[in-house]
Amino acid sequence: MEFEIHESVEGIQTDAIVVVLPEGADRCDGRFAAAAHPLFAGGDLPLKPLETLVLPGTPKIVFVGLSKSADPEAWRRAAATVVRRLKKVKRLAFAGGDVRAMVEGALIGNFSVEVYKTSNNRESIEKVIFAGADRKTVEEGIITGESINWARALINEPANRKPPRVIAERAQEMAASIGLAVEVLDENRIRSLKMGALLGVSQGSEEPPRVVVLKHMGNPNSKKVLAYVGKGITFDSGGISIKPAEGMERMKYDMAGGATAMAALRTLRLLRAPVNCLAVVPLSENMPSGRAQRPGDVVESMSGKTIEIINTDAEGRLILADALAYARSLGATHLVDLATLTAAVRIALGPFRVGVVGNDQTFIDSFLAAAKRVGEKMWQMPLDDEYRDLIKSTVADIANSGGRYAGMITAAKFLQEFAGTTPWIHLDIAGTAWNDEDKPYLPKGPTGIAMRTLVEFGLGFGNA
Ligand code: BES
Ligand code: MN
Ligand code: ZN
Repeated sequence: MEFEIHESVEGIQTDAIVVVLPEGADRCDGRFAAAAHPLFAGGDLPLKPLETLVLPGTPKIVFVGLSKSADPEAWRRAAATVVRRLKKVKRLAFAGGDVRAMVEGALIGNFSVEVYKTSNNRESIEKVIFAGADRKTVEEGIITGESINWARALINEPANRKPPRVIAERAQEMAASIGLAVEVLDENRIRSLKMGALLGVSQGSEEPPRVVVLKHMGNPNSKKVLAYVGKGITFDSGGISIKPAEGMERMKYDMAGGATAMAALRTLRLLRAPVNCLAVVPLSENMPSGRAQRPGDVVESMSGKTIEIINTDAEGRLILADALAYARSLGATHLVDLATLTAAVRIALGPFRVGVVGNDQTFIDSFLAAAKRVGEKMWQMPLDDEYRDLIKSTVADIANSGGRYAGMITAAKFLQEFAGTTPWIHLDIAGTAWNDEDKPYLPKGPTGIAMRTLVEFGLGFGNA
C-alpha cells in the first residue's frame, strides 16, 4: 500500500473517494452535497458508525459513518472499515479528517491474517491518496501503522514457525534494516546470567530460549532510561499443568507483549524520538516433556530470589521476573512491562480494556494520559499489600501462583517483587491482544494493542 498527497480532491485520478459522515449529521456540506442530498431525502443517509454506502461511478463515492466521539480511534476505525470492505478498488482517496489516524487505519485495515491460504486472491488497495494533508503527518502514520502490522504479523505466525531463535532473527533483521541497536542472548549467556526462572520455563522445550534487547538512545542529555519488557512465550501449552485442548491454538499469541515492545522501539527509532529506550524480550516455549519443570520445583531467579513453582502454566511472570531484573541491570530507570499474563484480566475487564497496575502513581497517571490521547482503552486496578499474602510460599521466597482470587493482581504482585524500587508499570493485555470475532475494522486475530500508547508515552518521556 502506497500513500500519495494531493492538494485537493479536485481532478485526482482515483477509483473511489471516501466521504466521512459524522453520526447524526443530517446533511453533507461541500463538494459532495449534491450527491448526498437525495440520499438524505430518501432515507439512505445518515449512516450508523462504520456503516458504508457506495455510490457507483467513476470515481465511486464511498460514504462511511463516523462515531460521535470523533477521536483518533473513531477515524482509524472508519478508514480501516473502508479499506476492508472495498473490493476491486486500486486507488482510494480520502479528503480531510484526522489524517494520521486514517493512515494508520488504512494500513491496519489492509493487514491480512490469511497468510497460509494457498488460494489467497484477496485484491488489495495499491494507492491511498490524501487530499490536503501534511507530509509529516502522513509519514508518522505510515511508521506507526507499519509497526503495528509488524507486531501483528509476528503474533499471527503459527508457533511452529516462530520458535524463540526465529523471533530473535526477525528482531535482528528488523533492527538492522532501520539502524536500531540489537543484542540477542543465547542459552549460554542466559545461563551465565543465572536467569533460573526463564531457564526453568524453557527446559521442557526442544527449542532453546533467547532474550532480545533493542536499544534506542535518543537523548544523550538525559540519564533516564525507559525499558519496555514484553512477554515472549512463543507457545503456551501450560507445561505439566497442561491447558485444556479447547482454544489452545490461540496460545501462539502469548508473545504479543514482546512483539509489541519491539514494534514500539521500531517506531521510536524511525520517529527519531528524543528518549532513551530499551525493549527487553524474554523468549521461550512452555511445553510439557520428560525434562519439563514440575509443580513443587524451586528455581532461583537472576535477582537471587527463589520461586516455588505451584503451577507451570503461570510461566509468563517467571520469564518476566528475570527480564525485569536484567532490564534493571542494564540501567533502566523506569520499567513498563506488557504481557498476555492472565485469564483473570479478561474476566475482570473483558476484551475492551487493558489492565494496568504499577508502583508509582505519578508514572501511572502520565502513562494513562498517553493511552487516552491515542485512544487505547486501559483501566487501573488496585495493588494493595494484602494481595501479596496470596503468593506466599512455604519453601521459597515467593510462589508463582495465588489460586482463585484476584488473578490479575496476584500476578502483578509477583512482578512487583522483581521491579523492586524502580518505578514500574504492568499492562495485562491477555484480554485485548487477540480479537475473537471479525469486526468491520479488524479481522479475527492479533490487535497490536498498546503499541501506540508505548510510542506516545515514549515520545513525551524524554523531555519530562
Ligand atoms: N498465557 C496465559 C494467560 C491466558 C490464559 C491468556 C487464558 C488467555 C487465556 C498465562 O500464561 C496463564 O496461563 N495464566 C494462568 C495463570 C494461573 C495458572 C495462575 C491463568 O490466567 O489461568
Ligand atoms: Mn500459561
Ligand atoms: Zn502464558
